[in-house]
Amino acid sequence: MKVLIFETEEEAKRNAASRLLRQVQLSPSSVLGLATGGTMEAVYAHLIQMSLDQSVSWSGVATFNLDEYWGVPADSPASYRTYMNAHLFDHIDIVRSATHVPASDGRDPRDAAQLYEDAISAAGGIDLQLLGIGKNGHIGFNEPTSSLSSTTRIKTLTDDTRRANRRYFDRLEDVPKYALTVGIGTILASKECLIVGTGQDKAAAVKAMIEGPVSAVCPASALQMHRNVTVVIDEQAARDLELIDYYQHVHPAGQEADLFDV
Ligand code: GLP
Repeated sequence: MKVLIFETEEEAKRNAASRLLRQVQLSPSSVLGLATGGTMEAVYAHLIQMSLDQSVSWSGVATFNLDEYWGVPADSPASYRTYMNAHLFDHIDIVRSATHVPASDGRDPRDAAQLYEDAISAAGGIDLQLLGIGKNGHIGFNEPTSSLSSTTRIKTLTDDTRRANRRYFDRLEDVPKYALTVGIGTILASKECLIVGTGQDKAAAVKAMIEGPVSAVCPASALQMHRNVTVVIDEQAARDLELIDYYQHVHPAGQEADLFDV
């Protein structure tokens, strides 16, 4: 794992955005795996601004989001489809039909899951998978004890996760109990992963992901098995890391000499 620690949350999110932009610049027909959540709102805001400033076209890019609440219609204000349109797709020149979010409607979830896996495969797989991390170490909506080789399927959300996402709904009772999420195996099949975590709320999960044992109890720890993962965090999220001095020695202030040299 490449662990990059930035002094501030802002710097970390800006760096994540610059990595996504660079992927699109270097490979205009990239297939991106995208994430939702509070962390990504600023990442996408930077990405939109950078795309405008540098006239980067998204017209050849395809995207696959990690997850969607089960039973929440795509046009609901609380759906991840609505989130993605509002925070990214409405502001760039991406072809809307090339943006994918798991289906949330009433069809059999097993069919919806298989269709999603098939669509990812048909697109040639994910080139760069963007990830956030839940306080309990979840990635996508793969909650603790998810199979580390899981593929897209329906998952029951933990109460903690439902409370963390309460702000997107009127009442806690409105937060769905289930979500369709790509699996940990699906994530591990991507060519590259970029995981972003900021704030002290994420410190325990970040430590378990990077330095804990590979365990289904912390789904993000499965990323230790992936050969090309970049972890972008701020000092608050990094504060429990035992080897923090080493990470900061290898990448002072989160920098790597070759980032823009390719
Ligand atoms: C949700 C999403 C995850 C995301 C997590 C963290 O649970 N399904 O993909 O990583 O939230 O969100 P936040 O950035 O708001 O902490």
